[in-house]
Amino acid sequence: MEDNKIEEIVAIALSETESSDNSDQLQEIRNRYLSKKSELMSLMSNLGELSIEKRKEFGQKLNAAKAKISEVINAKQEELKKRELAARLAKEEIDISLPSYQTLPGGKNPFHVIIDEMTDIFLGMGFEVEDGPEVEQDLYNFELLNIPHDHPARDMQDTFYISDSLLLRTHTSPVQAHAMEKAQGKPVRIICPGKTYRRDDDDATHSHQFGQIEGLVIDKNINIGHLKATLELFAKKMFGEKREIRLRPSYFPFTEPSVEVDITCANCDGKGCSMCKGTGYIEVLGGGMVHPNVLKMNGYDPEEYSGFAFGIGIERVAILRYGIDDIRKFYQNDVRFLHQYRKKA
Ligand code: DAH
Repeated sequence: MEDNKIEEIVAIALSETESSDNSDQLQEIRNRYLSKKSELMSLMSNLGELSIEKRKEFGQKLNAAKAKISEVINAKQEELKKRELAARLAKEEIDISLPSYQTLPGGKNPFHVIIDEMTDIFLGMGFEVEDGPEVEQDLYNFELLNIPHDHPARDMQDTFYISDSLLLRTHTSPVQAHAMEKAQGKPVRIICPGKTYRRDDDDATHSHQFGQIEGLVIDKNINIGHLKATLELFAKKMFGEKREIRLRPSYFPFTEPSVEVDITCANCDGKGCSMCKGTGYIEVLGGGMVHPNVLKMNGYDPEEYSGFAFGIGIERVAILRYGIDDIRKFYQNDVRFLHQYRKKA
């Protein structure tokens, strides 16, 4: 009688399993037929009344029944899992014919727009573009530019040191020394745009990272007139034909004489306004004739060769060109700022 009961339970369990159509329902069937409180297990309580042989036989039947139900439920579970996955994939299918979100086309940071423009102007004058390392040796950043270890000019160019002799370059001027080393005593006419670093508190006009374009010309019979003509042409091409330049005496350890170069204010045409603080001029760069010590240290005879050099602040030119009021904007990657220069690029 009990044997029939087992077969009956198995038959019902299999039929319920067969007709179940979701995982939750299947789990409920599993609990109902295989848990400790299931009907099958309750038959166990009658085992005590049976003879040893019968008990063994009945036990085996019971176990076989449980195994059968479990096997069928597991198979069904696999089948349901596959079916449910297929249904989910079908539901989540992406309709690639829908219009996409609108994305703005990218553009160059004004920093690079200005580098490209300045580079074009100097290429037109016969300069070549050089590159140099941003992680630089003290030797190139200072020593070979006539700034020995105890020179006070180092105070203004404190930087980020990697080791005692390795640092983030404080200006693009070390490329002068690299270019002279490479030229092996031959004439040089190069510019080098790039990033530079200094220990500085960041505010509207200071940034620990900024850009410069270095220029260097070395040849026989180069004089300060060449420097002035080159920079005048640059100023007119960059800021307009009406711009004029003025050279003021200055000091840099690697040039002698050294000059600070101002251009007439584009806002007031040199008459004096708030932008140029009433002077009519705006300072844009430093330069001068290459110091004889620098020529000597880098393999040139100052009796035979002379040269001029200059360094232009990239953000400074961009700020004047576009009326940008804060140097930090170049580095914040705010798309609202960057987007304005896309059209100009
Ligand atoms: N390296 C200087 C600075 O960062 C700028 C400079 C001045 C560069 C005069 C030159 C130069 O090549 O001749 O302050």
